[in-house]
Amino acid sequence: MTQKNSFRIVSLPGDGIGPEVCREGARVLESCVKHAGKKLELVEMPLGGVALDAGKPALPDETRAALSGVDAVLLGAVGLPKYDGVPGDRRPEKGLLDLRKMLGVYANLRPVRAVEALIGASPLKEEIVRGTDLVVVRELLSDVYFGEPRGFDPDGKRAFNTMSYTEEEVRRVVKLAFEMARGRRKLVTSVDKANVLEASQLWRRVAKEVGADYPDVKLEHQYVDSCAMDLIKKPTRFDVVVTSNLFGDILTDEAAVLAGSIGLLPSASLGDGPGLYEPIHGSAPDIAGKGIANPLGTIASVAMMLRSSLGLPQEAERVDRAIERVLNDGHRTADLGGSVKTSQMGDYVCRALESD
Ligand code: IPM
Ligand code: MG
Repeated sequence: MTQKNSFRIVSLPGDGIGPEVCREGARVLESCVKHAGKKLELVEMPLGGVALDAGKPALPDETRAALSGVDAVLLGAVGLPKYDGVPGDRRPEKGLLDLRKMLGVYANLRPVRAVEALIGASPLKEEIVRGTDLVVVRELLSDVYFGEPRGFDPDGKRAFNTMSYTEEEVRRVVKLAFEMARGRRKLVTSVDKANVLEASQLWRRVAKEVGADYPDVKLEHQYVDSCAMDLIKKPTRFDVVVTSNLFGDILTDEAAVLAGSIGLLPSASLGDGPGLYEPIHGSAPDIAGKGIANPLGTIASVAMMLRSSLGLPQEAERVDRAIERVLNDGHRTADLGGSVKTSQMGDYVCRALESD
């Protein structure tokens, strides 16, 4: 990565708790870029329900335009209950899917670690959770999310979606998973439903082909139903899990239980252009506006941005350490049974950063 002196980041706070958590993520980003002696231009743009409410598409033209030439994108969350039941192309989520497509981010990295200070926060037994350190690499631009044809019959009595994968779509994401595994414990678990689905049979074949180029990394295949069980039965056996879009969506919410709260989990969506960084949680309309959401998933996503898009790995480590420190100090937001507010949590992280 070429070293730059200034970065242009677009922030898309979105809906519900999105703006609240994004604000804290932005503070941490500003502090780290400054600490590294670089400059930051942070531009906020509409996406999702806020855009629809303003009579625009979920991914407005002005937001598309602002994304040209950016170094990375920070995102809060999209989705509002008032759009429940509205057709797919007029929903807030469409903005996120269009954005992923536009940025070409085909691989969604979702690391899940059991931090010692939070072992007790998981409803699972401590001896199961302790030592969990895995990353799910979720394919992000294909599968039933984008497959055609899709829709309803004219009489509305049947609905259909298409699960489809091309060799190339599988190859690029599986390759990325193998590259990651090389820097970790050298195990790739490819998750599919090849006992039933053709799309999965193709997935498995391509995974094997890619695996042949990585003799130093062990490749295993697992059916998604069996993987869902193992994730909460023996999670420590996983290192890199690579899977298709829908399976990855479901398995990562499940895996969040290992970390103690979904509010803690970050993600990085990578492709050939700028990366997209967002917490894996949703817009949580039930607690929106109360200032009590956990911003640590967004802050941890900023760490991933510093590492993968801005070429500032030392700053990323500082953020990871700061998060661990505030948790070790016992600070807890409501999702973890505490009463620390969103902005206070941001304060604690910034303070930990300053004293690092
Ligand atoms: C996620 C979310 C999204 C997805 C929704 C909001 C479209 O659940 O990022 O996991 O299904 O990809
Ligand atoms: Mg999801």
